[in-house]
Amino acid sequence: MHTLNEQSLHETLDTMTEYGWAQSDRLLPAALCEALYVEALEHERRGDLLPAGIGLGREERPDVRGDRIHWLDRESPYPAEHAFLSAMEHLMTALREHFRLGLNAYEAHFASYAVGRAYQKHVDRFQAQNGREISTVLFLNPNWSAADGGCLRIFHPERTDEVMATVEPKLGTFVLFRSRDIPHEVLPPARTRYSIAGWMKNMDAPAALLQGTWSRS
Ligand code: OGA
Ligand code: MN
Repeated sequence: MHTLNEQSLHETLDTMTEYGWAQSDRLLPAALCEALYVEALEHERRGDLLPAGIGLGREERPDVRGDRIHWLDRESPYPAEHAFLSAMEHLMTALREHFRLGLNAYEAHFASYAVGRAYQKHVDRFQAQNGREISTVLFLNPNWSAADGGCLRIFHPERTDEVMATVEPKLGTFVLFRSRDIPHEVLPPARTRYSIAGWMKNMDAPAALLQGTWSRS
């Protein structure tokens, strides 16, 4: 069974090739996104979400990064978590074949940004060796309106002050981008904002050997 919408998948691969980032609102089934939203609320209710850290020392700097997170787990009792992780495996296979990237691991966490909390502009490959190649973000906010803020702002890889896109964190909107060179930031929301941020990684090759692997196969 393929959880991913095949048409969206093809469009996503083409856009990634051209721009290094892509957005799709139909890649994942709506019912799965709704179940993941319910699960995020459940983690919140149970107190599973813990303050996130930054950099190598995972230092807590709520002024720089204000979310609270809970890592997804293949052993989780929630079926939606399994369905999401297997959809990401499918996407990782497609990206691996399309870009000939050595992607072999995926990690992801739920994130909750309370009112006014943000994540300042950053790139996800904060250390040379963390192996992150492709970042994914699935937004989990029903009935989100422009006044609720909380957009993900994506910048140009070379002209890093140039905004390429401003994405509203609506339920079902999915974004992916190159971890190594696409700066992005989370703007502060006016109501609690949920997402799942994830990373496809190459755990084998040293970072230096990965230069130039972004040609299309
Ligand atoms: C991150 C990140 C964006 C989001 O966790 O590195 O950029 O919208 N998250 O959750
Ligand atoms: Mn990030």
